[in-house]
Amino acid sequence: MKKIFFTTLLAALLFFPFLGCRKEHTDIEFLIGVAQANLSEPWREVMNAEIQNTAHSYSGVRVVFTNAADNWERQTADIDKLIRLGIDLLIVSPVESREITPAIRTAHKEVPVIVIDKAIEGYDYTLFIGVDNDLVGRQAGRYVCEYIGKEPGRVVEVTGSSESLPVIERKAGFRKALDGFPNIELAGSFDAAWHRDQAEDLARQERDVFTRASIIFAHNDAMALGIYRALAGEKHIPIIGIDGLTGPEGGLALVESGILDATIICPTGGKEAVHRAMDILQKRDGLPKKIFLRSSLVTRQILQENHDQSLRQSVRSSGKPPTLGFAQTGRESAWREANTKSIISAAKQSGVELLFENAELNQQKQIDAIRSFIDAGVDVIAFSPLVSTGWDEVLEEARRAGIPVICSDRTVKVADETLVTTYLVADFIEEGRRAAQWLLEETAEKEKICIVEIAGLPGSTPAIDRQKGFADVINRSARHSIIDSESGDFIGNLGYEVMKQFLKRHSKIDAVYAHNDDMALGAVRAIEEAGLKPGSDILLVSIDGVKAAFQAMKKGKLNCSVECSPLLGPQLMKAVLDYVHGEELPLRINTEEGVFPRELAKEYLPSRQY
Ligand code: AHR
Repeated sequence: MKKIFFTTLLAALLFFPFLGCRKEHTDIEFLIGVAQANLSEPWREVMNAEIQNTAHSYSGVRVVFTNAADNWERQTADIDKLIRLGIDLLIVSPVESREITPAIRTAHKEVPVIVIDKAIEGYDYTLFIGVDNDLVGRQAGRYVCEYIGKEPGRVVEVTGSSESLPVIERKAGFRKALDGFPNIELAGSFDAAWHRDQAEDLARQERDVFTRASIIFAHNDAMALGIYRALAGEKHIPIIGIDGLTGPEGGLALVESGILDATIICPTGGKEAVHRAMDILQKRDGLPKKIFLRSSLVTRQILQENHDQSLRQSVRSSGKPPTLGFAQTGRESAWREANTKSIISAAKQSGVELLFENAELNQQKQIDAIRSFIDAGVDVIAFSPLVSTGWDEVLEEARRAGIPVICSDRTVKVADETLVTTYLVADFIEEGRRAAQWLLEETAEKEKICIVEIAGLPGSTPAIDRQKGFADVINRSARHSIIDSESGDFIGNLGYEVMKQFLKRHSKIDAVYAHNDDMALGAVRAIEEAGLKPGSDILLVSIDGVKAAFQAMKKGKLNCSVECSPLLGPQLMKAVLDYVHGEELPLRINTEEGVFPRELAKEYLPSRQY
């Protein structure tokens, strides 16, 4: 495999002038560059193979690979080389997050960039694809806790390179799961740099610690295999690994043969990256900002069950158009209306039969709607949860009926997180942070800033997370204080009422932070009625980025709107179609969002779609 990539790269570099003017060469429509971190980890070889094979399924697409051999300076040079080669899109799997960020930022000015596996700093890239490594750590931790049970037990951990982000996150998740199990001792945590041989040597050197373990957790299957070899001849100690690759020494075969007790499948993202690259290059609608792929723990028994299930799944994809039941929250805001429209029109365009119910801001109605979809036997259920809790029972019912559930726009808190198949959501905490960041910069010169907050519906994820994100950033400044906070339920008129109360209660208000634009526009009315100038006497920052907010910014009445896209329809239908065609759905998809201060409003207003 390595040989093929080397040859491809060599050919690409040798024929540099040819590729440089490839636009004249009609059979190459798109040239994709892949800057790979190393090829010493089998997981990365598989990623490259997936990229190559998926690219072959599109005509006119060529891929050029580079291998940084785990050296970030070399990867920086590779990225520069690929850009000069004239690639149309870059896929990077970073050696290290922080070090490679500047190179990616520069490349992103030239071409779209997809970052795989390790997230970089900031948002200067087109799309991130990876697994949630904190969750992977938690999944391993839960398995360990279940295995050990209530008796005293010892677990030994073997990690990849300690400085790397996936290791930091997996370690954190693993420890979270172990928390609350005082009977389990973490007897050792060793770094074997992802390599099988190093893990094997380590387990030999530390034989005493390893042989006394009740269970061993390795951060990849290759290291797990190394440990198994080192302990051959000793009594059986269960080992759990990560990756779950196919192939003779892949994690799945190791579990199948009993060498490993479990592994956690972590998709490489190679296949997804090429499909999304084509969406980007062909300028398709509704592209997300982040895709978190599904990681799943497998044991021998689960492997057998999954095999049976995938046989059933392929049967489902044949025949009539797919059906989707969608339970909407209500009609509380312009954002919500745009969201409803996007879902209805995307369903029509993609041939998905849609059963649509509006819960009019009543959780029981939304639960009833989900139950009616279960009764109707739809293929997929999606809903935008009004509040975050209270869904366990109905989602259990959906699971019993074998219907996957997608949470659209908002998340839920459920005891069993596998009740939700996929989250198609915004990063509400980040939105709150961005609003606060804007306010801090805008008021950098000012003395003491008193802020009032008009919050969204209590108990809903956007209200909880936007409050948290905003407070996290604001509380770092001694000059800023949030002097009052009240809910306006995301409704414009309630925003107006809340602001009237604030103006009565407080003699000094410098800024308003509203959890959505509708409420901010309500506050604008209240401020004007009080004889003050919104936008100058009192600054206003809100979230959503609806057209009316841009109009208000153009008039100088609103200062900044942080985007939260309601145009989720195309992504949702893609998920429904992928599911019925037997594709695995990602765990979480984060939408793309920007920040629009009023200076940009005039320029962007004509192109706003909602
Ligand atoms: O969940 C998204 C939020 O719900 C929007 O920001 C708000 O306007 C809507 O009602």
